[in-house]
Amino acid sequence: MSILIKNGRVVTAVDDYVADVFIEGETVRTIGKDLSVQADRTIDASGKLVIPGGIDPHTHFDMPFGGTTSADDFESGTLAAAFGGTTTVIDFAIQTKGESTLKGLDTWHAKAEGKASIDYAFHMIITDMNDERLPEMRRLADAGVTSYKLFMAYPGVLYVDDGTLYRAFRQAGENKTRICMHAENGIVIDEIVKRAVADGKLEPKYHALTRPTRMEAEGVHRAIAIAEVAEVPLYIVHLSSADALEEVKRARVRGVDVVAETCPQYLYLDQSYYERPDFEGAKYVMTPALREKWNQEVLWQGLQFGHLASIATDHCPFCFKDQKELGRDSFTKIPNGAPGVENRMALIYQGVRAGRLGLNRYVELTSTAAAKLFGLFPKKGTIAVGSDADIVVFDPERKETISVNNERTHHMKVDYSTYEGFEVTGYPDTVLSRGRVLVEGGKLAQKGGGRFVKRAHTGELLR
Ligand code: URP
Ligand code: ZN
Ligand code: ZN
Repeated sequence: MSILIKNGRVVTAVDDYVADVFIEGETVRTIGKDLSVQADRTIDASGKLVIPGGIDPHTHFDMPFGGTTSADDFESGTLAAAFGGTTTVIDFAIQTKGESTLKGLDTWHAKAEGKASIDYAFHMIITDMNDERLPEMRRLADAGVTSYKLFMAYPGVLYVDDGTLYRAFRQAGENKTRICMHAENGIVIDEIVKRAVADGKLEPKYHALTRPTRMEAEGVHRAIAIAEVAEVPLYIVHLSSADALEEVKRARVRGVDVVAETCPQYLYLDQSYYERPDFEGAKYVMTPALREKWNQEVLWQGLQFGHLASIATDHCPFCFKDQKELGRDSFTKIPNGAPGVENRMALIYQGVRAGRLGLNRYVELTSTAAAKLFGLFPKKGTIAVGSDADIVVFDPERKETISVNNERTHHMKVDYSTYEGFEVTGYPDTVLSRGRVLVEGGKLAQKGGGRFVKRAHTGELLR
């Protein structure tokens, strides 16, 4: 099967020109002006952007958490991602405490295999790592899992102590792999939460009020210090506040290999959402919590000036009914997380429209940076001869209102939208994953066919 995408404005992290893109099978074969090639089919992209498929390096599909399981599995989650212009996700496999990380990897392979519509890779969440288990980390890397998430948050669940952090960091560095860090001082936060509960402060808004940004900044600072000593590249996930960003900036100026991602929710939503009546605030209970509004401007500047490297969703959906409701009597029981995998590309494009981001930077933040940081580049994250034909034909003028009730913007298997009522201009029109047209003119063309991608080591290319 061959496809010719004609007359689109091809935008990558560095290029911007009008050209034709010729795809043969799964791969981009030729890019050029007025190509005279015979193709099985032609897609007219006049007036549209032709951009690399989005890469979301932070999703939680089919994840047991908070006494329940995230509402999207690999079937619904990857299809929703495709509708939103994302063609690769890096999901988080989990090591059950006391068990092999390799067993955790097998579990996640079983969850995903045969279900995904787009390509996927895995980070591994490490919940314990004694000396005997350290060799597993090399075997994970050999299996294409070249990054690991560790938690300073959620004591008693995913939390690990500083000794475990150091052991895992050192091994990851030796293996030429990357550490992803959930950086928040969960031990102190738990103490603050206990006091709030004792005082009868149980509504959703106390989720945010018990999680000061200083505790995120402290976690970031400590993770950076440990990573520096352990000599491992560090990626701070879901950075939410100016306080935390300050720590990243300071370390980068010192020459430490640390980068950070933020997420649309921290750019567009704020702490006041927790005050919504009828328990609606529970929809926004996620960790880190939404912050005071003024933080948003600082994060946008961080994206503009390069202090923040990438934008992920931390897609971790729980239905309002039956799942978020588990915490009706106390915010401590509300499952943490919110949906967003379908909304990221359109939401961040509003930053282009507002003049906050250039088009190249938009592509870099939503695709190329994650590809480079996580060993997917240049197979993914760009449009180049030889790269996977993961391509979005993006209509810069298409208007949509994001809503759980809008069948064009909501394919996630969750009963609310984090961005309900947000009006966007610019939306994916046609989406290709390795040359298969999944979405055409905003409608489903085909599903399935997504594959696991074995990622390269840090600093190496994936061909
Ligand atoms: O609230 C969140 N973020 N849930 C998912 C787990 C995590 O910390 O990333
Ligand atoms: Zn996290
Ligand atoms: Zn997460």
